[in-house]
Amino acid sequence: MQNLKKIFYSALACTFLFNLNAPVNSTEKEVKVYSGRHYNTDRSVFKKFAEETGIKVRLIEAAGISLIERLKREGENSQADLILLVDAARITNAAKLGLLQKINSITLENDVPVGLKDPNKEWYALTRRVRVMVANPKVVDVSKINDYTDLADPSLKGQVCLRNRKSPYNQSLVANQIINKGEEATKNWLNGMISNVSQPFFPGDISIVRAVSKRKCGVGIVNHYYVARMLAGVNGRRDALYAKKNNSPYT
Ligand SMILES: [Fe+2]
Repeated sequence: MQNLKKIFYSALACTFLFNLNAPVNSTEKEVKVYSGRHYNTDRSVFKKFAEETGIKVRLIEAAGISLIERLKREGENSQADLILLVDAARITNAAKLGLLQKINSITLENDVPVGLKDPNKEWYALTRRVRVMVANPKVVDVSKINDYTDLADPSLKGQVCLRNRKSPYNQSLVANQIINKGEEATKNWLNGMISNVSQPFFPGDISIVRAVSKRKCGVGIVNHYYVARMLAGVNGRRDALYAKKNNSPYT
């Protein structure tokens, strides 16, 4: 769907924390990575890094919030070298809490564009996500859904499916709309859109894509990479078929 696209960008940012107190082991070099991301692509990058440099990557995966709590708890004694977090708000909050340290890297400075890095050099964005709309053309008229604001249209009564409001993906989307359209317009949009929701809020983006393709919903909002992964068959053949039935920026 050409016009249902790239409305929201948010940094899935990569923050760097260098712990000067970490013990140096001369026989085995190792970098300890705390990661709130859950993607195989990251693991293959770590593997390649280890092969190329001989530096072992010790990966500690957990939810972003728990990792931030862990950093706070560990304080000066933290062994973490690098933390990867999902969502720009989480990164900036970690920086504000004083959990990160500055890194001077010419490569990072050159490779990461302005607007996607911290002026204080405490974090750099690694990837961005697009919060896209997926719609079932057998349920809704996709030509009338061009923008998030269209999801508030009364013609979509009972057709909109959304993820739980606790999701940072949704919270950042709302923050983005407040910045772009102002508080009043965002409030009206949210009220209208929520009144079009007829079923319980979803726990994850993938279940929204499935529900849209099964005609349980007409349209939903999800991160672009879930759709891409489903279409690519990463989640299995059935999910690939579900994703293909919907209109999304990829179909
Ligand atoms: Fe995700």
